[in-house]
Amino acid sequence: MSTIPRAADPRARTRRGLAVASAFVLGTSLAVATPTAASAATGCEVDYQVNDWGSGFTASVEITNLGDAINGWTLGWEYDGNQQITNIWNGSHTQSGQAVEVTDGGHNASIATDGTVSFGFNASYSGSNDAPTEFTLNGVVCEGSVDPGPDPDPDPDPDPDPDPDPEPGERVDNPYVGADVYNNPIWAENARSEPGGDAIADQPTGVWMDRIGAIEGNDSPTTGSMGLRDHLDEAVDQAGGDPFVFQVVIYNLPGRDCAALASNGELGPDEIDRYKNDYIDPIADILADPAYADLRIVTTIEIDSLPNLVTNVSPRETATPECDEMLANGNYVEGVGYALAELGAIDNVYNYIDAGHHGWIGWEDNLAASAEIFAEAANTAGATPDDVHGFIANTANYSALKEENFAIGETIAGTPVRQSDWVDWNMYVDELSFAQGLRDMMVSDHGFDPNLGMLIDTSRNGWGGPDRPTGPGPETDVNAYVDGGRYDRRLQAGNWCNQSGAGLGERPTAAPEPGIDAYVWMKPPGESDGSSEEIPNDEGKGFDRMCDPTYEGNPRNNFNMSGALPDAPVAGHWFSAQFQELLANAHPPVE
Ligand code: GLC
Repeated sequence: MSTIPRAADPRARTRRGLAVASAFVLGTSLAVATPTAASAATGCEVDYQVNDWGSGFTASVEITNLGDAINGWTLGWEYDGNQQITNIWNGSHTQSGQAVEVTDGGHNASIATDGTVSFGFNASYSGSNDAPTEFTLNGVVCEGSVDPGPDPDPDPDPDPDPDPDPEPGERVDNPYVGADVYNNPIWAENARSEPGGDAIADQPTGVWMDRIGAIEGNDSPTTGSMGLRDHLDEAVDQAGGDPFVFQVVIYNLPGRDCAALASNGELGPDEIDRYKNDYIDPIADILADPAYADLRIVTTIEIDSLPNLVTNVSPRETATPECDEMLANGNYVEGVGYALAELGAIDNVYNYIDAGHHGWIGWEDNLAASAEIFAEAANTAGATPDDVHGFIANTANYSALKEENFAIGETIAGTPVRQSDWVDWNMYVDELSFAQGLRDMMVSDHGFDPNLGMLIDTSRNGWGGPDRPTGPGPETDVNAYVDGGRYDRRLQAGNWCNQSGAGLGERPTAAPEPGIDAYVWMKPPGESDGSSEEIPNDEGKGFDRMCDPTYEGNPRNNFNMSGALPDAPVAGHWFSAQFQELLANAHPPVE
């Protein structure tokens, strides 16, 4: 598989830098909440952070909704100085003297319970610049606790969240909470065969149905002799009657991997009927077997498909004829819709659509267009947004989970971080903020369930080891600052194949952050992304030069070196040297 990002928005390059310089950061975290007349529970907390340079500042404001879900918000406050907002993003504002009101920007209008949204702005001032001491959200003062509001019908047993004791087979809000997750014996055996591999061989990884033959077994290097039923039977054993998640990757679209060659598949661009009849239908039949009804079956739907129809089509310079064809024939959208509908009809299946990663679709125009195409697929071939439990970010990619040494709202030596070479106008610097932002957007702009949950693949985004930065880079200029501090040490965020220097990321974890159902290892660490030179095979896999360490790049990685490890086998095959490097550079480290 591959993940093909695009270079930054070429239009963005012509935008002006902001004439500001950085100074100190001032933070204040206020909380609050209070009564409203309405019966809804209200409560909010506001985190107001400022990067102040003496005559102006950039503010990053985060609102956490502690009450019932909200759709549409206005945040108000009063300054005690002459601060004047000059421009704002992710919201709009009115200011009358010292009183400010900021209203949502549309895409971030809804805030789930415990959800957060953020916006930012630039402002000028003279004299003092104290942070506001009180905020109101939709007219109610934020106090950091919840006011339940009048309760017309007191319920002694309110619906707890999460459900601590769901019936087996009942669909829950977050399938990972209170559940163990399937350990694939085929992957575990490969991991155990490696020096040091025992330490992680018990971890759950995804089971990839990467071809029709994988359903019955005997045909795929990643499933080996075990077919889908064999894995499910083993999962029932591992579950031992307790809540249990089984993770399966649906990955066999017609014309698969249209912007790369390494993970091309067995189905030609027009073979949508074979996809439906010979691939999705048999999988759906197996998953619907009552023998598996107590498992929580998590699907990852079609890696690297839909965003390719946004970023890698004409007239963009990053276009490929194969992606143009898949856009024109509609078979990616049709196939994803069909998979969602057929699998979503099974009560214990939780569908997560693959959503690329921030270094691919985190630019403004890519994100909105990708969100639209996700919504289109979720309304195609009988699917509805109810068939979508959430989205998964960073599958088989290397984007860092949290970049802690720089932030999108900072300005260094007069240049915003967004304009650094590395960030290159992206709206996000890491996967956590991207996943949360995309989640908000799908809920507010496309009518998805406000309880939508996200997964993040952390199998290979650890970037630990001796070269991991221990603090921010120097503030001499923005590139030194970002490059000195970033954990992701790829040559360019568009590089995707067997990245040199990568490490295992966060171990799989349930409900690690707001809006995130789990960190998962959907890509089994140690399985190659693609061969570093041409290797004949009967799997339909091509040779993509992004997997060749001597390759000097293409428009999709802005003509950088590929950063790939040498001597890699065909995609999906065991790559011992990579496994060893992932172990050595794990972050958190492997004990
Ligand atoms: C790649 C391969 C696929 C394999 C998967 C997991 O996408 O193309 O065959 O199952 O990686 O390693």
